Amino acid sequence: MAKAVLRVFMFLVALICLYVYVGYTITSMTGGFDKAVAVEGVNAEAGEQIFFGKGKCSTCHSIGDKGSAIRCPNLGVQGEQFPLAIGERAAERAAERSKQTGKQYRPVDYLFECVGEPGAYVVQGFKNEMPIVYQAPIGLTPDEVKAVIMFLASQGGDIPADQILNPTGIAKEYFSKIEAAAASGATEAAPFEPYLPGDPEKGKNLFWDISSKAGCAKCHTVGDKGGQVGPALTSVAGTRVLKYIVESIVKPSAVIVSGYEPVLVMTKTGERIAGTKKEDTPEHFVLGLPSGEVKTILKSDVEKSKIMETSIMPGNFAEILSVEEFHDVLAYVRTLTGESAPPPAPAAEAAPAAPAEAPKS
Ligand code: HEC
Ligand code: HEC
Repeated sequence: MAKAVLRVFMFLVALICLYVYVGYTITSMTGGFDKAVAVEGVNAEAGEQIFFGKGKCSTCHSIGDKGSAIRCPNLGVQGEQFPLAIGERAAERAAERSKQTGKQYRPVDYLFECVGEPGAYVVQGFKNEMPIVYQAPIGLTPDEVKAVIMFLASQGGDIPADQILNPTGIAKEYFSKIEAAAASGATEAAPFEPYLPGDPEKGKNLFWDISSKAGCAKCHTVGDKGGQVGPALTSVAGTRVLKYIVESIVKPSAVIVSGYEPVLVMTKTGERIAGTKKEDTPEHFVLGLPSGEVKTILKSDVEKSKIMETSIMPGNFAEILSVEEFHDVLAYVRTLTGESAPPPAPAAEAAPAAPAEAPKS
């Protein structure tokens, strides 16, 4: 008992060190970020490169069938939900925003708002999950933001290039915010380093060995391997800041990722089943169970259901992992930037294969 308390205490001390440790040498850290994709001019071609590269947009959004949209709006044309590409859709959204705010939105204002303050308007059926792409770790510069908006505008509609290159009105308000962020150094990776560097190889084993204390792959995929209960972590380190990742592991209930809300279903036979709500149609629920299984439950068998506040992801990794093990896992997760082919799982049977019925869109 005393040992367990000591362990939790040590862990918290290490974690606090991790949060408060601030490196003095910002300069030594700023050279590394994705200089490979240099923008050549502010135009749609440069914007396309950013969309599929440094901007990480394509890790969440697709354009038609290009990209890997799993839980974010398609920015091209796709089925009934998105019959118009973003360039044209922006006109509809602008009209909606004008009604909501009483200000006159033009399509270009809407696009600058999407990037400048993603939480200002959240597309119906989605959650406020879009990162601030002009802050670290993505850290687009003001010119890169303009270029990516040029690319979005090139997907149909008729937004004049000049409105993007020389923003006025609402677009300018948001663009000024983006410029201010760049001027304050927010685009640079924050000088935030873990207490221990950790060993990514050891972390990889802990991650993929589902009988280990970590066993993250029971619920998470990297590439096309792993479990379907939680979100894919293929590019998590490329799209999320380290502090968020640390918090996601030690305090999973602090922020619940959209599409993975914990739900408790009570069946007519008195069974209580908790899981992530992967699908909720008039006919059935599809739940991701803590065991790593994915289960379909017919609505006709359900007595009632309610959303819970506690994540299906275990909240006790701070107790069961040692400080070293935690940092090893963290070191491995930090390699998951989505930039290169993900490292394969060490053993084929270590993680359950993705079930064939996994939702794709
Ligand atoms: C981590 C996932 C993620 C990343 C990365 C991301 N987005 Fe988004 N984006 C979302 C989500 C979720 C929404 C819907 C919720 C909302 O409206 O904020 C959204 C909404 C949008 C919309 C509004 C779509 C509509 O139908 O009106 C635009 C435009 C957009 N994103 C552009 C971008 C661009 C450009 C990038 C890259 C620079 C990007 N996003 C990166 C998750 C992401
Ligand atoms: C029993 C299933 C389960 C296990 C085991 C599990 N997770 Fe999770 N994880 C989830 C679920 C469900 C979510 C989404 C809900 C939430 O935000 O809490 C999540 C969310 C996350 C997120 C946030 C992802 C994002 O896109 O924002 C990270 C990072 C994460 N987990 C890392 C890990 C790591 C590392 C391990 C192993 C130490 C692990 N998880 C083990 C179920 C699990």
